[in-house]
Amino acid sequence: MRERVRLGVNIDHVATVRNARGGAHPDPVRAAETALTAGADGITAHLREDRRHITDADIGVLSALCARAAKPLNFEMAVTDEMLSIALRHRPHAACLVPERREEVTTEGGLAVAGQEARIKPVAQALTEAGIRVSLFIEPSEAQVEAAAAVGAQVVEFHTGRYCHLTDPGEREVEFERLAAAAAQADILGLEVHAGHGLDYETAPRMLAIPEIRELNIGHFLIGESIFVGLDTAIRRMRAAMDSAK
Ligand code: PXP
Repeated sequence: MRERVRLGVNIDHVATVRNARGGAHPDPVRAAETALTAGADGITAHLREDRRHITDADIGVLSALCARAAKPLNFEMAVTDEMLSIALRHRPHAACLVPERREEVTTEGGLAVAGQEARIKPVAQALTEAGIRVSLFIEPSEAQVEAAAAVGAQVVEFHTGRYCHLTDPGEREVEFERLAAAAAQADILGLEVHAGHGLDYETAPRMLAIPEIRELNIGHFLIGESIFVGLDTAIRRMRAAMDSAK
């Protein structure tokens, strides 16, 4: 039988709301505690270069919380010297390397690993040597999966944003097949497969039709939904949706 697919909860946007007023409320660390109590298998946080949501201080407290709770912290980071040194200081369970552009509203597209192997490989190596699992956030393409394996990643996280935003059922199915094929290829190459971006109660369970997927990382929808039903309920409903996936 298939192992239960893990749910990682991204709490960045609790910090977005907090930062809108510059104070301490709502606290993303409290959100992380609530998420773990509600059944999240881990916490994801993205320390962006411009610190628009999660801050350096948040990462310190989140690391301590996850260590106490014996739950993984998935630290999303750009491929920069600054982020590498922060990751090496905190030693999260995993570091997910993402592309980052200051002007983007969210992570638009996956990391172009193919063609940038020389830049990414030393970072992946330094993280791995520190005992941090290396995940690469990539598009579901053959070239990117091959490059991810070549630079020594242990995990690939497929960007599901395109699948989630497509409205035409035919186009959506084509994108689903692209995700499924890339997941199968990654699995053959020994990479653990995760997926994330834009997932909700409908698209998250659909991803579980891809047997190689081991983990989903979900943020924006859950934080948005929590305005209406509370974070605990939003996460429990997501867990239930995933558990009832065919
Ligand atoms: N995974 C990665 C690598 C991301 O960058 C993001 C967005 O920060 C997510 C998952 C979660 O996406 P969303 O907030 O749309 O659920």
